[in-house]
Amino acid sequence: MSGKTIRESWDANAARWIDVAREGRMPSRAVTSPAILNAAAALAPDRVLDLGCGEGWLARALTEKTGARVTGIDTSAALIKAAHTEDPENDYRVLAYEDAAADPARLGGPYDLAIANFALFDEDLTPVLRAIAQTLTPQGRLLIQTLHPSLLDPQEDGWRTEKWDRFAGEGWTDMPLYLRTMEGWQAVLAAAGFKLEETIEPRDSDGAPLSIIFAASI
Ligand SMILES: C[S@@+](CC[C@H](N)C(=O)[O-])C[C@H]1O[C@@H](n2cnc3c(N)ncnc32)[C@H](O)[C@@H]1O
Repeated sequence: MSGKTIRESWDANAARWIDVAREGRMPSRAVTSPAILNAAAALAPDRVLDLGCGEGWLARALTEKTGARVTGIDTSAALIKAAHTEDPENDYRVLAYEDAAADPARLGGPYDLAIANFALFDEDLTPVLRAIAQTLTPQGRLLIQTLHPSLLDPQEDGWRTEKWDRFAGEGWTDMPLYLRTMEGWQAVLAAAGFKLEETIEPRDSDGAPLSIIFAASI
């Protein structure tokens, strides 16, 4: 991987991302956001960890819908500041996955549910997923929403570059993403000690998959 790291590119794009998320400028989110929110709410969690929470929409929505208390972590200080400003009641922490993996106590907990909405784009996810497993209650669940593996071209795990074509001319910084096949996701979940319980496949109005949600237990 060359160029900016994931952390550097999210810092560079933070202000633009806050606008996009809050102004609903990604049409697919009209489907994928209710999908992850409903999947999380159906588990009726009391305490939730939101990994890569960004500007915090999911934490806010989940608290509003279920009353859950949410801890959101993100590597971007600008995004955590925006989340906290909008929602001072929940707990938002500047924390990169690699730092959480090195010291899982920094995640807090225990949690009934950990969620990651389009937020796991590092190559080596096993350490942070192992740390998450340690923070979950015995009945705890992990929900990961990510790009549907069928949309990968080529069909193999590897680094890609998000060039933000849909926002061309707006000054976005290219961002590295490590994308996984179905087998890649199954392997990383298993390596971290998770059992895949269910997959949900949100689709557009033509029936084409927009994303996949993995529901896993420990
Ligand atoms: C596409 S955004 C999604 C944000 C939010 N989950 C949402 O649904 O709007 C991905 C987020 O993951 C965070 N992220 C990516 N890699 C990270 C890492 N290694 N440690 C912590 N946060 C990370 C980014 O800073 C960014 O806020």
